[in-house]
Amino acid sequence: MAAPLGGMGAPHRPVLLEETLQFLAPERGGLFVDGTVGLGGHSEAILKSSSDTRVLGMDLDPTALAYARQRLAPFGERFRVFQANFRAIADSLRQANERDPSGILVDLGVSSIQFDSPERGFSFRFDGPLDMRMDPAKGPTAADLLQQLPESEIARIIFEYGEERHSRRIARRIVERREQGYPITTTRELADLVRLAAGGHKRNQIHPATRTFQALRIAVNGELEGLGEFVDTAVDLLIPGGRFVGISFHSLEDRILKNELRRLSGHCQCPPRLPVCACGARKVIEVLTRRPVAPSAREVDENPRARSAKLRAGCKLSA
Ligand SMILES: C[S@@+](CC[C@H](N)C(=O)[O-])C[C@H]1O[C@@H](n2cnc3c(N)ncnc32)[C@H](O)[C@@H]1O
Repeated sequence: MAAPLGGMGAPHRPVLLEETLQFLAPERGGLFVDGTVGLGGHSEAILKSSSDTRVLGMDLDPTALAYARQRLAPFGERFRVFQANFRAIADSLRQANERDPSGILVDLGVSSIQFDSPERGFSFRFDGPLDMRMDPAKGPTAADLLQQLPESEIARIIFEYGEERHSRRIARRIVERREQGYPITTTRELADLVRLAAGGHKRNQIHPATRTFQALRIAVNGELEGLGEFVDTAVDLLIPGGRFVGISFHSLEDRILKNELRRLSGHCQCPPRLPVCACGARKVIEVLTRRPVAPSAREVDENPRARSAKLRAGCKLSA
């Protein structure tokens, strides 16, 4: 295990690790793409499974990549990293002069160094700038969105991505503050505002700001955009018999993974009233998970952050 970088706390525990290995089957050897390499937990297990595996790790976050590079240095040339969005998987493979992956993994969401670093602004547990960008060099921060977006759009984000029933009231208060010349710029300010707008914090309930923070993070990083197209590209790139594994932490992400894998297994996703299929369903994979795989009670006990994880997997069929 690599030494913590820059005061980093406990390393990220890879979620559903045994199940991921079971579906990816890396002991077959070959090239594996870890589209969300994070701190390299899943990648390390893939590299350890056989001396014939290679991993191309991708991530938006340069801090995570630095950690993964250091942690997986003992594997030498078998591990390479790219700072890129996993949606650009085809470009990264080209740049790496690689093709025909045997497996592709994405473990969506945030890593513990992002969540546990006050200066990244992902968590209301600390006071820090309201940032939330996975790539800190690109795009508007969460504070920028709250300063720039219309009230209706802020409410929509909080409602759709956070399933927060007080979304309109929260958006109203955010806009009132900025109109008074006091825009929200820190995690503490936002958490306090949400707590007041949502009517306080009752014992034994999740913090009222949880859903709003999750929603803003999804919006800042465009986490749902192009996820379905990515699954399609990934399956296209796999060798026959190659495996795709997706781990999600949000019902909207899980729905996208489920529908896309179903479509690629030949199930039409069009509304029943359409006379002809317009979704392009074709049978190129076999779905390996009839239902999403959830972590065991023991895993959740040991790693509460795993509690909402769901894994779905597919195997590419021969042409
Ligand atoms: C849950 S962590 C992955 C943890 C990793 N599996 C491990 O074992 O350490 C998710 C990682 O995905 C990255 N990420 C999220 N969306 C991404 C995207 N679209 N492209 C590339 N990386 C992304 C985040 O920066 C974060 O480091």
